[in-house]
Amino acid sequence: MKDVILLTGAGQIGMAIARRVGYGKTIIVGDKSIENAQTISEIMNNAGFDAIPFQMDLSSRQSIQNMIAEGEKHGLINMLVNAAGVSPSQASVETILKVDLYGTAVLLEEVGKVIGAGGTGVVISSQSGFRMPALTAEEDELLALTPSEELLDLEILKSENVKDTLHAYQLAKRCNEKRVMSQSVEWGKRGARLNAIALGIIVTPLAIDEFNGIRGDFYKNMFAKCPAGRPGTADEVANVAELLVSDKGAFITGSTFLIDGGATASYFYGELKP
Ligand SMILES: NC(=O)c1ccc[n+]([C@@H]2O[C@H](COP(=O)([O-])OP(=O)(O)OC[C@H]3O[C@@H](n4cnc5c(N)ncnc54)[C@H](O)[C@@H]3O)[C@@H](O)[C@H]2O)c1
Repeated sequence: MKDVILLTGAGQIGMAIARRVGYGKTIIVGDKSIENAQTISEIMNNAGFDAIPFQMDLSSRQSIQNMIAEGEKHGLINMLVNAAGVSPSQASVETILKVDLYGTAVLLEEVGKVIGAGGTGVVISSQSGFRMPALTAEEDELLALTPSEELLDLEILKSENVKDTLHAYQLAKRCNEKRVMSQSVEWGKRGARLNAIALGIIVTPLAIDEFNGIRGDFYKNMFAKCPAGRPGTADEVANVAELLVSDKGAFITGSTFLIDGGATASYFYGELKP
């Protein structure tokens, strides 16, 4: 039996990573939209990969467990790529926290129970987590270590303390960074590594929704004025993911890598400073 990759999020970023690292493996392509999972699986199967579409909801522990059980039918799970998520223009505060924050935390915990020795995981996070002002050391620790079923009850995540969907998204992505740190310790006990990539603007349907949403001008200004002067591509994200999951990345775990064309640097110390 071949080794298995669990891919959550049948979008452009998930597919670019799976195509880069997925040859010779069975790829379970999980998405809330079975149509998206089927579309991406078909493209990959037509290109010689072994992809199996699977309907799943990142915000449900049961659904995550079902996907893991499906993966285990096909072989040893030794890679996780989490590229599922919702953006500030696509969803409510509640949905963003349930999917991007809670769902990611549960996924890392559940896959961490079964990941094979030498296995690796990559979580797609966002520059938004870097943009938000620092939280207190205590808040960071609560995001890192609170049992996942209690996460959404934290004071900072209560609806009266979350200003809008962008703030919810920032909190979710900050939490992703902290969860990757804390879970990398657990994954390490199994000889596995876990990292995240915090993206700037990458052209995908999700980003195009943002360009056409209420913050469209803000985003267009951001990529025009960032040092790179353009948005990024999913294949550039896959370059970094490939490093993180390969032997060349063997000393890298518990880290979040910012890939944003310099937008965050410019936001703090350059032309994008508010
Ligand atoms: N594109 C960007 O500019 C950008 C920037 C920063 C971060 N990101 C992050 O990258 C990740 C992937 O985004 P993308 O740009 O590839 O978007 P995309 O819309 O192409 O793909 C996201 C996929 O996630 C799926 N999804 C949504 N909710 C789900 C749920 N509850 N359970 C399972 N699947 C679900 C969607 O159906 C979709 O197929 C997200 O976490 C996003 O926050 C993207």
